[in-house]
Amino acid sequence: MVDQAERLRLLAEKIKQEAKQKAGLARARVIAVTSGKGGVGKTNITANLGIAMAQAGRRVLIIDTDLGLANADVVLGVSPQHSLSQVLKGEKAIEEIIVEGPAGVKLIAGGSGFQELININNPRLSRFLSSLEAMEEMADVILLDTGAGLSKNVLSFVLAADEVIVVTNPEPTALTDAYVTIKAIVKKSPAARPKLLINRVGDEEEFHSAQNRLVKVCQRFLGINLDVLGYILDDPNVPRAVKNQKPFLLAYPGTPASRCLKRLADKLIGTPASQAATEVKGIRGFFGRLVRSFSSSTVS
Ligand SMILES: Nc1ncnc2c1ncn2[C@@H]1O[C@H](COP(=O)(O)OP(=O)(O)OP(=O)(O)O)[C@@H](O)[C@H]1O
Ligand SMILES: [Mg+2]
Repeated sequence: MVDQAERLRLLAEKIKQEAKQKAGLARARVIAVTSGKGGVGKTNITANLGIAMAQAGRRVLIIDTDLGLANADVVLGVSPQHSLSQVLKGEKAIEEIIVEGPAGVKLIAGGSGFQELININNPRLSRFLSSLEAMEEMADVILLDTGAGLSKNVLSFVLAADEVIVVTNPEPTALTDAYVTIKAIVKKSPAARPKLLINRVGDEEEFHSAQNRLVKVCQRFLGINLDVLGYILDDPNVPRAVKNQKPFLLAYPGTPASRCLKRLADKLIGTPASQAATEVKGIRGFFGRLVRSFSSSTVS
């Protein structure tokens, strides 16, 4: 039975939500998770970060934008039957392709569907963009799992997002690739402030020496103060969970990687979107920018 206090709480929540919508602030916060080097942990971090944010009360939608090896579904342990491609062809509504995973995290398997954006005609595009309003209302946070590297595709997704997390591990090759990625983002979009996350660190000392290297080169050669989000410890329970197709945060909630991940989620949630990004354009803004970027030249 819903008691009086609970009823009041729900009413207050509803009023707050309506006020937020009226003020035009109800846009979902779009955060891209990317990397220079492949295999550094983007997909695992995206999936588990989504779950941690959902556990903290946020409505989370993950969009798998990896056009090569889209595998966020595997890490989340869900099996989407449809992808964005069918929405862009007008065969399905956006709501029909969304699958629900653990902790209520929703997933859109983008896959090759994004390629369709290049050739989409105007009436279909405007229909698609207006259908995204439903998504804006369904999520507070949209996480994009991207591919690695600097292809035009990956950069288009990254630059279309409101915020960007660059993931690396502490190996020198990965740090160099992370720097190259940060440089490419800042050159294309000088106002962008990519945030750094170092995965698979052995201990705090390793984290500090890796972050210091990147912070210094970014200051010296790009003139920016790199925002460092923190680190995730190297943890054998991560690959163990992947093998069982269960997100590590749920399979091993107390394991070191899960503790780091929760700290990361708290940090992101604790930084208001208005402070973390120059402008929160939400899901429609994201797709609008993406289409412009895709159609500006051929996608490689
Ligand atoms: N903190 C960690 N500790 C131990 N292993 C990890 C950790 N994070 C990721 N891994 C392992 O690294 C591998 C690659 O992870 P993941 O697929 O998430 O990387 P990715 O960056 O998405 O790769 P790709 O570039 O291919 O998309 C996985 O097998 C995973 O188990
Ligand atoms: Mg991946």
